[in-house]
Amino acid sequence: MLNIVPLTAAAALRRQGQQSLLAAGRTATVSTWAQVPQGPPDPILGVTEAFRADRDPCKMNLGVGAYRDNDGKPYVLSCVRKAEKRLLDKSMDKEYLGITGHPGFVQRASKLAYGADSPALAESRVAATQSISGTGALRIGGEFLSRYYPYAKKIYLPTPSWGNHTPIFRDSGLEVGQYRYFDKTTNGLNIDGMLEDLQNLPANSIVLMHACAHNPTGVDPTAEQWDQISQVIKDRDHFCFFDMAYQGFASGNVDRDAQAVRQFVSRGHYVALSQSFAKNMGLYGERVGTFSLVCQSTEEMKAVESQLKILIRPLYSNPPLNGARIVNQVLSDSTLYSEWLSEVKGMADRIISMRTALKDHLVNDFGSQHNWDHITNQIGMFCYTGLKPDQVEKLTKEHHVYLTKDGRISIAGISSRNVEYLAQSIHAVTK
Ligand SMILES: Cc1ncc(COP(=O)(O)O)c(C=O)c1O
Repeated sequence: MLNIVPLTAAAALRRQGQQSLLAAGRTATVSTWAQVPQGPPDPILGVTEAFRADRDPCKMNLGVGAYRDNDGKPYVLSCVRKAEKRLLDKSMDKEYLGITGHPGFVQRASKLAYGADSPALAESRVAATQSISGTGALRIGGEFLSRYYPYAKKIYLPTPSWGNHTPIFRDSGLEVGQYRYFDKTTNGLNIDGMLEDLQNLPANSIVLMHACAHNPTGVDPTAEQWDQISQVIKDRDHFCFFDMAYQGFASGNVDRDAQAVRQFVSRGHYVALSQSFAKNMGLYGERVGTFSLVCQSTEEMKAVESQLKILIRPLYSNPPLNGARIVNQVLSDSTLYSEWLSEVKGMADRIISMRTALKDHLVNDFGSQHNWDHITNQIGMFCYTGLKPDQVEKLTKEHHVYLTKDGRISIAGISSRNVEYLAQSIHAVTK
């Protein structure tokens, strides 16, 4: 029997074009991809391209979200170098991992996120898989929710949120909505607006929360505000998907930064979690993270894990080995682990000291009359400066400082050598 497969829209279009060419008595010389439209460049990677092309010696790239040391250089953590050396000495094979990744890594990473004493972990009801860093974890989560979340096919993001959240969830088959988060007038959290929006969403909505060091605003709820948020989410039976890309980067303490996630789980929320080791272990290009889902029982966890496998297998079969081995080595060795904790704190402290220096120069050295308290009140890698698009443009064109159009700067890109220049430049465009 003839199996008739329906044409996709693109294939139908191409066939139509070929048929009209043939009808016109010509052979098909039009390129197959002639109809593909030119897409816009990625807004953040576009900033880096423009920065590279600039020849000015004072130029600064504050667009990219990657940690730099005080010399402006990429930083490979010493605990990571040591872990790599140990792994090399073991001359291990390069066999495939299983679909859900390196078991030791997944187990230790989950402990790091949920806490060593987490009842959910002890009761074997957390379904978890290794992922292609945080982005891959969000995508796996999006795909899973889109297939199995029974109440909604829409996820609500804070306004604003990381620029990649919307395309990740749209491509996963979810609609994307928003709730209020940032207050432009105070450069802080709009807690009332946020609570009101969460209250008014349809019951059982999916909401995405940044676990700590909110990107791009650097504004996190306080412990009391998390209490209020947790209560509304509970009252409305919402489902919370935490994105934790910066554990340790906000306060310098990995336990403190995981507090919101742990607090939600201890109050009986069945959360989903995306976890990344890109920033806190400096493993950006190794692409290592996890996706996990807290379930009600071991039986449920097993079913969820079986579906995660079914979902991942046709995507990329199984995740990469090296990054997982490095993290596993660091998390399983008490000396490397302590060294890592102090290196995370070192990175967070350098960021905090750059915030203080920037504000200090603006206010005390250049006499800026604006209120810059938000520079030190905000937390994590980014500062949402409040600069307007025309001021951002001036900062780039006249002062060679590169940042995203929304006025976000990566504090990790500032050093003690250029912080004064940055303050002077910001003052010049905001006078
Ligand atoms: C909020 C947030 N989530 C997730 C990610 C994902 O990062 P990665 O895929 O490199 O782990 C980032 C990176 O910038 C981020 O800022």
